[in-house]
Amino acid sequence: MTGRVAIAGLGPGDPRLWTAEVRDALAEATDIVGYGPYVARVPDRAGLAKHASDNRVEIERATHALALAAEGRRVVVVSSGDPGVFAMASAVFEAVEARPSAFRDLEIRVLPGITAMLAASAAAGAILGHDFCAINLSDNLKPWAVIEKRLTLAIEADFACAFYNPRSQARPEGFGRALALMQAACERGRLITFARAVSTPEEHLTTVTLDEAVPEMADMRTVVLLGSSRTRRIERPGRAPFVYTPRSVPE
Ligand SMILES: C[S@@+](CC[C@H](N)C(=O)[O-])C[C@H]1O[C@@H](n2cnc3c(N)ncnc32)[C@H](O)[C@@H]1O
Repeated sequence: MTGRVAIAGLGPGDPRLWTAEVRDALAEATDIVGYGPYVARVPDRAGLAKHASDNRVEIERATHALALAAEGRRVVVVSSGDPGVFAMASAVFEAVEARPSAFRDLEIRVLPGITAMLAASAAAGAILGHDFCAINLSDNLKPWAVIEKRLTLAIEADFACAFYNPRSQARPEGFGRALALMQAACERGRLITFARAVSTPEEHLTTVTLDEAVPEMADMRTVVLLGSSRTRRIERPGRAPFVYTPRSVPE
């Protein structure tokens, strides 16, 4: 039997957002590998081995998955959202590249999922309806100076921005610094949306202007969407507003 690895995106929360391709891979799997809370989203069944690991051990997890596949097993590495967005797909390829002879003949596929920023933009309306960029605000794997530079240039170019990993207990100050930079660089009325636990029962969206925003509005279950200068709010009596970015930029 030839082993294989699929790196699958489980979307932001609701299993109804799993793609048919991801469902098929999970149904055929012998082994599920991933961060504990994501592995727990996959229903148990006879013959399925689950290998849950802690946060921040991505390369060990990826190497374990590849080693299982090399033994002939059908492995699915699960990520939240999309596996190619700040997640396990790159970690698996880093592990493949680090061991030139061992893993290159394996069948490895990346199965996309709905990433948090797209689910959040859709829940609010269409915040990412025009040009946008995504920035991971964690400085675990890159210097803070790089984050500041990318954020500064993205604002200068008037992109809407999605911020992943905004604020953790281990990094409580970083988001405050990023927010201060946005407040200094953008007009006071610029819209910013804090989308927490999107597509789960705890989903909560708050849209405020930048001068109303405070760091405590974000945590690690939040993706933060900063509008461009064109992003606007359509108020609705008694209901959440629609927040969207028009498709055009005037000359
Ligand atoms: C390590 S990144 C993984 C991103 C994931 N691969 C994706 O495509 O959504 C984790 C960050 O994604 C965001 N995130 C993931 N799921 C979310 C959800 N359901 N609601 C809001 N943000 C979410 C948060 O910013 C969180 O800190």
